[in-house]
Amino acid sequence: MWLMLSIFILLILNVGKGNKMKYNKPTILLKYIAYLLKASNGKGHGIHSPFVFSFIKNVLNAKTQGAWVDKIEKYRTDLSYNKQAIKILDLGAGATKQGYKVKQIAEVAKGALKSKKYSALLNRMLAYFKPIAVLEMGTSLGITTCYLAQALPDTKIVTMEGAPAIAELALATFENVGYKNIQVVVGNFDQNLPLYLKDIDHVGFVFIDGNHSYEPTMTYFNSLLSKSNEDAIFIFDDIHWSKEMENAWEEIKADERVSLTIDLFYIGIVFLKKENKEKENFIIRF
Ligand SMILES: C[S@@+](CC[C@H](N)C(=O)[O-])C[C@H]1O[C@@H](n2cnc3c(N)ncnc32)[C@H](O)[C@@H]1O
Repeated sequence: MWLMLSIFILLILNVGKGNKMKYNKPTILLKYIAYLLKASNGKGHGIHSPFVFSFIKNVLNAKTQGAWVDKIEKYRTDLSYNKQAIKILDLGAGATKQGYKVKQIAEVAKGALKSKKYSALLNRMLAYFKPIAVLEMGTSLGITTCYLAQALPDTKIVTMEGAPAIAELALATFENVGYKNIQVVVGNFDQNLPLYLKDIDHVGFVFIDGNHSYEPTMTYFNSLLSKSNEDAIFIFDDIHWSKEMENAWEEIKADERVSLTIDLFYIGIVFLKKENKEKENFIIRF
């Protein structure tokens, strides 16, 4: 009985797996329950920061709808039924030794993209904060990129993708859904992020959604900070995806240049605003 229980606990806690490995489903579920128990209720009650209160009211809890949403979502649905196989150069945290994976487009559409709820939240964040520059690290099929492009039609949205076959599909997405203010940079973040940073005055809004492991995440964060002023906003995806990502998130929160963070479980939001004298780390239900 005790042996069975220990095996069960070992299994759900992912003991024996490397820190890089994605947590298994029961572990993620337990972590999600812990998040719900710790999180503020999402209505802003008990939140004393006016900035965060306003963010909750005007951005987090606002609604995003319109014909443009339906158009993007219709394209997402089409992709999720597309059985065409593609050969994907694999650069992320789960990269295989041979470096390529063959997958159906449908699998990518169902497994790699941010859901409508989060894509719409990023759209509202851009419309609300109006950053001077927007970068997405990890384009995949370009669905979230469309939400970003819709929010700021006069801003060039730069999106980076390492797998050429995926980048081509993203270009087809932009063509079909009808966004022209997007620039796709194909290649590894490791090479392309320094080039991007050379080209801009200051970092604006960055969605870091690729290569979910500790070292690259911290490298990208520190490079981005080197070109950031207090207006920069970073969104880190999958902060509770693995032990490594949780370690990276803890280190990012503790960084002295970071003044405010919001943990929504599936993403972590980072602000550098100087008006926030005391560092504050919020966990908010979303
Ligand atoms: C989770 S998907 C991005 C999803 C997209 N942001 C969305 O919400 O629809 C991550 C993408 O990042 C790309 N990627 C991962 N590591 C990379 C790296 N080191 N350089 C360039 N691209 C990378 C992968 O090929 C993959 O398409």
